Amino acid sequence: MRRRRRRGRREAPMDRISSRYPEGFRPGRTAAVFLVLLVLCLSFAGCGQEAKKANGQILRFYTWKPNQPEVWEEIVRIFEAEHPGVKVWREIGPHSSTSFHDLLTQKLKNRSKYLDVFLMDVVWTAEFAAAGWALALDDRFPRTEQSRYFANVIQANTYGGKIYGVPLYIDTGMLYYRKDLLAKHRLTPPKTWPELVRQAGIITAGEPDIYGFSAQFKQYEGLICNMMEFILANRGRLIHPETGKAALADQPAREAVQFVRNQIIGKTAPAGILAYEEPESLALFVQGKAVFHRNWPYAWEAANDPSRSRVAGKVGIAPLPAFPGGASRAALGGWQLGISRYSENKELAWKFIAFLSSPRIQKLLALKASLAPTRKDIYDDRDILAVCPQFREMKRAFVSAAPRPVSPLYPALSNVMQRYFSRALSGAAADINRESLAVAAEMEQLLTLAP
Ligand code: GLC
Repeated sequence: MRRRRRRGRREAPMDRISSRYPEGFRPGRTAAVFLVLLVLCLSFAGCGQEAKKANGQILRFYTWKPNQPEVWEEIVRIFEAEHPGVKVWREIGPHSSTSFHDLLTQKLKNRSKYLDVFLMDVVWTAEFAAAGWALALDDRFPRTEQSRYFANVIQANTYGGKIYGVPLYIDTGMLYYRKDLLAKHRLTPPKTWPELVRQAGIITAGEPDIYGFSAQFKQYEGLICNMMEFILANRGRLIHPETGKAALADQPAREAVQFVRNQIIGKTAPAGILAYEEPESLALFVQGKAVFHRNWPYAWEAANDPSRSRVAGKVGIAPLPAFPGGASRAALGGWQLGISRYSENKELAWKFIAFLSSPRIQKLLALKASLAPTRKDIYDDRDILAVCPQFREMKRAFVSAAPRPVSPLYPALSNVMQRYFSRALSGAAADINRESLAVAAEMEQLLTLAP
């Protein structure tokens, strides 16, 4: 009843009004047309916003907390100034490679469109490629351009014949030492690990409050790098490259682990080193509390900056020691730039990557943050060699750096190895023979799952 009455009330005035307008003109219809036009305009405006974004007004860059934040601020400022209207939004992940991996892959698993460019550790290529998270860059990064980079980093970014990352900087483990303290005792940088332990003993005996060595032995990716260096220097392996079988139960690998547990942890280095990542271990060295320090190239700038370091000007750099009969081997590390497959801004993402990896920015990163360039010819640059003379020597170490195992299952393998190393190093009672057999078996199982 009520509905009928309402309809009646509405129809009557409409009819009355219509008679006051020219024929064919219907205010109701006009209002509807107006409404449709309004909606269309608004949605075009919306599309405009979307289009603006798609044209790259906002670029989302997933990165970690840098050691030299001011350098990254400067780089982003330059990019934004050269691309008016573009804003780079940096999302800062954790410093640890392992935690960074977990957060980044969470976003990728969720197919987040709020992610355009990300940093990738050199060991993630296979996983990111196999999962389809990183875009293949072959069209944008052709072989002619790849040939300007160190071959080992290009190889590390390649999986199944395609390239997935542009190498931003290269890392290799190096030995930092206190030039002044070695000179005081008439010592030269140690060539073997037993020699390092002996020298550290001599120096620390006369120096209160100073430890012999600092490095990274917490349970995370850095532990793999450090332990791999000891193991390779003793002619051992993590995985046999020829057979693809786990090699941690082999004698050279077991001996190296035993050496670290008996001679390094709680002896040459403080026991607290079991909780150290790069920043904590570097802090010990720059505070003047360690004679020797294992770290990546960036530590050079930090250790020689008088505003942050008590040992500026007193630092020497050398290849990592070997074991008698073995050879010095450094882990290949470093960070690459990748584009998310789910990015809606792929063209702008590529512009950003091309900018970051350009000779100009690699040079800036080398000069201001002592990050080692991945482009070969930058090593002949006079400005760089004047500020970073260590790069001349380091170049050899970069070329011969040892990659960690390549597998889409690398994070899982790494996790298994991290737990083994951590158990073996922290428990004096841990039976390394038994534990190493167990970890090798666990790795074998994972390796059979790899495609
Ligand atoms: C550095 C290296 C990286 C490695 C990490 C371990 O960031 O570049 O490759 O995985 O250290 O802590």
